Amino acid sequence: MSRPLRTIVAEQGAWAGQLMWEAVLDRGVPAGAGPGAAVSEGMEHDVTQNGFRAEEIDTSRPHPARIYDYLLGGKDNYEVDRAAGDLLADRAPEVRVGVQANRAFLQRAVRYVVGSGVRQILDIGTGLPTSPNVHEVARALDPGVSIAYVDNDPIVHTYANALLRTSAPTAVVLGDLREPAAVLADPEVRRVIDFTQPVALLLVAILHFLTEADEPERVVAELRDALPAGSYLVLSHATGDFADRVEAEAVYNNATATLNLRERAAVERFFAGFELVEPGLVQVPFWRPDGTAPKGSAEIGFYGGVARKV
Ligand SMILES: C[S@@+](CC[C@H](N)C(=O)[O-])C[C@H]1O[C@@H](n2cnc3c(N)ncnc32)[C@H](O)[C@@H]1O
Repeated sequence: MSRPLRTIVAEQGAWAGQLMWEAVLDRGVPAGAGPGAAVSEGMEHDVTQNGFRAEEIDTSRPHPARIYDYLLGGKDNYEVDRAAGDLLADRAPEVRVGVQANRAFLQRAVRYVVGSGVRQILDIGTGLPTSPNVHEVARALDPGVSIAYVDNDPIVHTYANALLRTSAPTAVVLGDLREPAAVLADPEVRRVIDFTQPVALLLVAILHFLTEADEPERVVAELRDALPAGSYLVLSHATGDFADRVEAEAVYNNATATLNLRERAAVERFFAGFELVEPGLVQVPFWRPDGTAPKGSAEIGFYGGVARKV
């Protein structure tokens, strides 16, 4: 079963205070970046719509979704996230162009799977809403596409609830990739996704937040097994194959999830049993580009691929 929102918030809240200071001391986050100071700053939307107060959200540690939002140029992030993002960009100068390229890959891949006839999308690791969102890209091709958005970050969940729900079949679920059975059994997911029909499973820029102890291969296998023939897996993953990024990886050590860079062979194993469509597993800007690859593409540390279950 998915853990209730309040459990997750309470778990995160337990870190507040002590970790605010660890964050400040360990990673040089400017003082004054604690929960009280940060909650009113930067966020564009009310985070109380699900019945919990903004102060209950842990703003003492960087969150992957908010660091990513900051690197994409978004405003839904706190001082700790901006500090982590700046440090990351310092240690991996290609990261900003990399996240843009990852987002562009996501859009091209969604157009590809919808263009191939898939009418259901399960997007695990949704991220904070960023235009164009998955449903906007998919429904520009077919307004009837069903979408289940799943993320384990309470802030993403609240924002997604407010901004991603539409009249077409959409589910917004607070769920954890590390609990694939719970995601697959979730009544909201089941309301919009019929697992007897082809599904596009999106695991875009999320698997690198799972450690080996989380058994990412088993997790992905469980999800792949739940999909019928004709389904697709759309996946991207951070790597250090193109530059030594050990120091960049360490930026996430005190974040709510660690960064776990993987080599090509390990990323390829996530597609086991599925057939990679052309051009296979490549750096994201080189997956079916629809224009000139951005400057610095050769250094981008994201693999991306799309594969079909036959
Ligand atoms: C870098 S963002 C990627 C967003 C979007 N998929 C994209 O590529 O543009 C990663 C997202 O995965 C979510 N995430 C990380 N670990 C997760 C987990 N174990 N279960 C569910 N979501 C998770 C984060 O909260 C964040 O929203």
